[in-house]
Amino acid sequence: MKNLWPLLCISPWVHAAATVDSCTSAAIATPVVPGALITNLTADVVNNYSISITGESNNWPAQNITVWLPLTGWNGIFLGVGGGGFLAGSPSSLAPAVQRGYAAVSTDAGHRSNSTSNATSWALVSNGNVNQYLLLDFGSRSVHDMTVLGKAVTTSFYGSAPNYSYWQGCSTGGRQGMMEAQRYPDDYDGIVAGAPAIQWNDLQAAQQWPFTVMINEGYAPPQCEFDAVNAAAIAACDGLDGLEDGIIAAPGLCDFNPASLVGKTYTCDSDGSQRQFSNKTATVVEKIWQGPVTANGSNAWYGILPGTNFSSLAPTETFANGTTIPQPFAISDNWYRNFLFKDPNYNTSNITYGQFPALTHQSHQEYDSVIGTADPDLSAYKARGGKILTWQGLADYLIMPNGTMHYYDQVAALDPMVTDFYRVFFAPGVGHCGGGFGYVPVDILTALRRWVENGTAPGVLAAATSFAVNGTIRTQNLCPYPSVSKYIGSGDPAQAASFTCESSF
Ligand SMILES: *[C@@H]1O[C@H](CO)[C@@H](O)[C@H](O)[C@H]1NC(C)=O
Ligand SMILES: *[C@@H]1O[C@H](CO)[C@@H](O)[C@H](O)[C@H]1NC(C)=O
Ligand SMILES: *[C@@H]1O[C@H](CO)[C@@H](O)[C@H](O)[C@H]1NC(C)=O
Ligand SMILES: *[C@@H]1O[C@H](CO)[C@@H](O)[C@H](O)[C@H]1NC(C)=O
Ligand SMILES: *[C@@H]1O[C@H](CO)[C@@H](O)[C@H](O)[C@H]1NC(C)=O
Ligand SMILES: *[C@@H]1O[C@H](CO)[C@@H](O)[C@H](O)[C@H]1NC(C)=O
Ligand SMILES: *[C@@H]1O[C@H](CO)[C@@H](O)[C@H](O)[C@H]1NC(C)=O
Ligand SMILES: *[C@@H]1O[C@H](CO)[C@@H](O)[C@H](O)[C@H]1NC(C)=O
Ligand SMILES: *[C@@H]1O[C@H](CO)[C@@H](O)[C@H](O)[C@H]1NC(C)=O
Ligand SMILES: *[C@@H]1O[C@H](CO)[C@@H](O)[C@H](O)[C@H]1NC(C)=O
Ligand SMILES: *[C@@H]1O[C@H](CO)[C@@H](O)[C@H](O)[C@H]1NC(C)=O
Ligand SMILES: *[C@@H]1O[C@H](CO)[C@@H](O)[C@H](O)[C@H]1NC(C)=O
Repeated sequence: MKNLWPLLCISPWVHAAATVDSCTSAAIATPVVPGALITNLTADVVNNYSISITGESNNWPAQNITVWLPLTGWNGIFLGVGGGGFLAGSPSSLAPAVQRGYAAVSTDAGHRSNSTSNATSWALVSNGNVNQYLLLDFGSRSVHDMTVLGKAVTTSFYGSAPNYSYWQGCSTGGRQGMMEAQRYPDDYDGIVAGAPAIQWNDLQAAQQWPFTVMINEGYAPPQCEFDAVNAAAIAACDGLDGLEDGIIAAPGLCDFNPASLVGKTYTCDSDGSQRQFSNKTATVVEKIWQGPVTANGSNAWYGILPGTNFSSLAPTETFANGTTIPQPFAISDNWYRNFLFKDPNYNTSNITYGQFPALTHQSHQEYDSVIGTADPDLSAYKARGGKILTWQGLADYLIMPNGTMHYYDQVAALDPMVTDFYRVFFAPGVGHCGGGFGYVPVDILTALRRWVENGTAPGVLAAATSFAVNGTIRTQNLCPYPSVSKYIGSGDPAQAASFTCESSF
C-alpha cells in the first residue's frame, strides 16, 4: 500500500449537531480507511449549530473531513455533499442536510484553500512540478476516503449502519458524483449529479476559449453588446418551442446568425447609448457559440447555447474612456497557468489559436486519468442497483449542456436500457446550478430516494421558477432527455399541467 500511496493522513474534525454521551472521540471507533492513517478524530457537541475545531497538519496530504450528525431524528441516511470550482466540499451544505435528518459529510481534499477559482496555493510543489497527490485527492481519492470514513463514523455513532447512502452535488459536486459512479460504485445507492463538470479537460478548454477568441480577434465586446446579442437571439428563437416566455427552450431549432446583426443599432443597457453591432461582434459571438476547434477547424468541444449569459466565460471590462478589455474565466485560466504551463504567473493572453489545440491535447494526456471523469461505462454502478439523476440548466453559463448530452448519449450507446439507472433532465432558461428565469427542480433528492427506496423512477422532475412572476411561482415538469417539455397550446402557461413531454417540439 505504501508504494501505491505513501501515506494519506486524514484528520477528521467531527461535528455533531446535538448533545449525547456518544459524541466523544473515545466513543467513536477509529475508522479504517485503506491506505490512510487517521491522525486525529475530534468529536464536538454543538447545540443548535456547529463550530469547527482546529487540528494538526503534517507533511503528507491531510484531509479535513467533517461529519455532521443529527442527535435526534436521524433518518437513517448518509449523505455525501460535493464542492464547487476547485473546492472539494461545501461545509455550508452540511447544516441544511442535518436539519432534514441526514448524517452528512464533506471534505476539503487536503488542499485547505477556500477559493473556488484559485488553486495556486496548492497546485504546484514548485514551478514545473504539479502536486500530483493533491490533484489526485481533488480528482477522486478524497471523496472516496471521506465516504468510507463518514460511513464508519456514522455507524459507530448510531450503532447501526446507514440504511441508504446518497451523493448530492452540482458542478464540481456533480463531477464528483459521476466519478463515484465510475470509480467507486459501491459508495452510494443514489447520486444527484447536477451540471457535472465531467469531461474536465475538454471543459477547461471550452471555458478558456472565449478569452482566447477575444484576444486573437483583437476585440472585446462591452457586456451590454453581449446582452443585446442575446436579446436578439431570444427574440428570434423564443417562440420555436410553441410558447413565448422569454426563454429559448429549443436551442437546437435556433439558427439565429449573429452576422445578421452587423450594422444594426442597439441600445446599451448600461448607459442607454445607441451603438452599432460590428462584424467583429458577429465573429466573436459565432466562435464563442461554436466552442473550441481543432487544428483543422472542426469542432473540438461545445460552446454555451444562444440566450446564455456571456458575462461568466467572456467577462470584459469597459473603462471610463470607452476602451473594453477581455478577461479570462478565473477557473480555467488558473488551470492553464498552474497545470498546463506549471507557472502561476504565465500570461495566458499570449495563447494563440495555433497553440490552443495542442494545449487541449496536453491536458488530456496529463490529466484524463486523474480528473477527466468521462468514462461512459457505468455497468458496475447499474449492477449494484445504483441510480443517477442529473439535471442542468440549458442556459448554463459555465458548463456546456451539450457536453452532458454527449456523455449521456455515450452511456446510452453502451447500454440501451440506460433509463433503468440514469436519467438526465434539462431546464430551459436556468443558469449554472440554478438561477435564471426558468424552472429549477423542486426536490431532486427526494425524487432520487423514491427511485432507490421504492422503485419509483422519475418520469418527470417537478420544477418551479425561483421567483414569482406577477405574483405567481410558475411550475413546469422537466422531461427526461432527449424528450422535451412542450406547451399543449392552451391552458395556463404558468402551470405544469399545460405541458407534456414530447420527443421534439
Ligand atoms: C436551541 O435553540 C432552541 C430555539 O432557539 C432553544 O429553545 C434551545 O434551548 C436551544 N438548545 C440548546 C441546547 O441551546
Ligand atoms: C476543517 O473544516 C472546517 C469546516 O469547514 C473548518 O471550519 C476548519 O477551519 C478546517 N480546519 C482546517 C485545519 O483546515
Ligand atoms: C486532536 O486535535 C485536537 C484539537 O486540535 C487536540 O486537542 C488533540 O490533542 C488532538 N489529538 C491527538 C490525538 O493528536
Ligand atoms: C432502517 O431500516 C430499518 C429496516 O427497514 C428500520 O427498522 C429502521 O428504522 C431504519 N432506520 C432509520 C434510522 O430510519
Ligand atoms: C479564505 O481564506 C483567507 C485566508 O486564510 C481568509 O482571509 C478569507 O477570509 C477566507 N474567505 C472565506 C470566504 O472564508
Ligand atoms: C491566488 O492565490 C495565490 C496564492 O495562494 C495568490 O498569490 C494570488 O494573488 C491569488 N490570485 C488571485 C487572482 O486571487
Ligand atoms: C447541442 O444541443 C442542442 C439541443 O439539444 C442540439 O440541438 C445541438 O445539435 C447540440 N449541438 C451540437 C454541436 O451537438
Ligand atoms: C469588417 O468591418 C471592417 C470595417 O467596417 C471592414 O473593413 C471589413 O472588411 C469587414 N470585414 C468583413 C469580413 O466583413
Ligand atoms: C483607457 O483607460 C484604460 C484604464 O485606465 C487604459 O489602460 C487605456 O490605455 C485607456 N485607453 C485609451 C485609448 O486611452
Ligand atoms: C506575453 O505577452 C506579453 C504582452 O504582449 C509579452 O510582454 C510577453 O513577453 C509574452 N510572453 C511570452 C512568454 O511570450
Ligand atoms: C416509499 O413508500 C412508502 C410507502 O408508500 C412511503 O411511506 C415512503 O415515504 C416512500 N419513500 C420515499 C423516499 O418516498
Ligand atoms: C404580468 O402582468 C402584466 C399585466 O397583466 C402583463 O402585461 C405581463 O405580460 C405579465 N408578465 C408575464 C411575464 O406574464
